[in-house]
Amino acid sequence: MKLPNLKSSLKGVSLKNLGLKRKRVEPSETSPVCFITGASGRLGKAMALALAERGWRVCFTYRSSRQEALETLSELKALAPDAKMIRCDISKVSSIKRAFLLFRTRFERLDLMICNASNFFPTPLPEVSEKDWDSLVDTNLKGTFFTMQEAAKLMMEQNFVSRMITISDVSAELVWRRYAPYTASKVGVQHLTKVFAKTFAPKILVNSIAPGTVLLNEADKEFEKDILSKIPLRRVGTPSDIVKAMLFLAENDYITGHILSVDGGRLLY
Ligand SMILES: NC(=O)c1ccc[n+]([C@@H]2O[C@H](COP(=O)([O-])OP(=O)(O)OC[C@H]3O[C@@H](n4cnc5c(N)ncnc54)[C@H](OP(=O)(O)O)[C@@H]3O)[C@@H](O)[C@H]2O)c1
Repeated sequence: MKLPNLKSSLKGVSLKNLGLKRKRVEPSETSPVCFITGASGRLGKAMALALAERGWRVCFTYRSSRQEALETLSELKALAPDAKMIRCDISKVSSIKRAFLLFRTRFERLDLMICNASNFFPTPLPEVSEKDWDSLVDTNLKGTFFTMQEAAKLMMEQNFVSRMITISDVSAELVWRRYAPYTASKVGVQHLTKVFAKTFAPKILVNSIAPGTVLLNEADKEFEKDILSKIPLRRVGTPSDIVKAMLFLAENDYITGHILSVDGGRLLY
């Protein structure tokens, strides 16, 4: 089976093509604040824009896509003028700590932490190098853990209920032979979601979105035919499918420790 290259263009995510255009809510100094990792483009950018359009203030991190991040920042600033971007390599704890220090220089509260940044590439078992393993696991699992740890410190100081959403993957429940370090890291992310939910209840609600296949590009057409036969809803997901799940979890008061699959029924196969 040909496996997907999900690294499609960082461009192309906008409020218009998300299909979520609605009356804009102006942010104020007391508006809720979201900090999201890895939002220079694609799903992270879609979530950041959707929140900003609803009156949230947004801070996001990028790692290497500076130009795309600057474009995202300018779109966010049009909606929420104090939007901020921070360069951060989440595979390094010192970089995460620095990002939170910089976050605190602009924002006095944190209502929603979205752990979205992730690394993804194929790693057939016999060929997995230590470098591959470290790159995938240090970003996806270690990076998510220490981001959640920093966010929890800040949230526990606050006198209101806040939320974290991790972004995992339905592959955590599947067996993908060519992606073991990636899927193992996402299994770990789902476990961290539950441990943080139990530890920090009732002050912090912690849930995970597990996307199925979203955002295929032209090069993935052959894979798309194959994957569609395994998706009961017969289409790949769109950024707006993920955004709607995120908005639901960002508002719900009685769900914690939950893994929400947004996969068109992929796990039924
Ligand atoms: N797209 C899908 O079909 C799909 C399916 C299942 C699950 N997911 C999950 O959904 C989330 C978003 O998906 P996506 O496709 O939009 O993600 P993506 O484009 O693969 O990655 C998001 C961002 O993560 C950042 N990143 C990578 N390594 C990093 C590091 N060491 N430190 C800091 N940032 C780093 C990158 O920032 P820079 O570009 O600035 O370097 C990248 O733009 C991810 O958690 C992914 O695993 C996606």
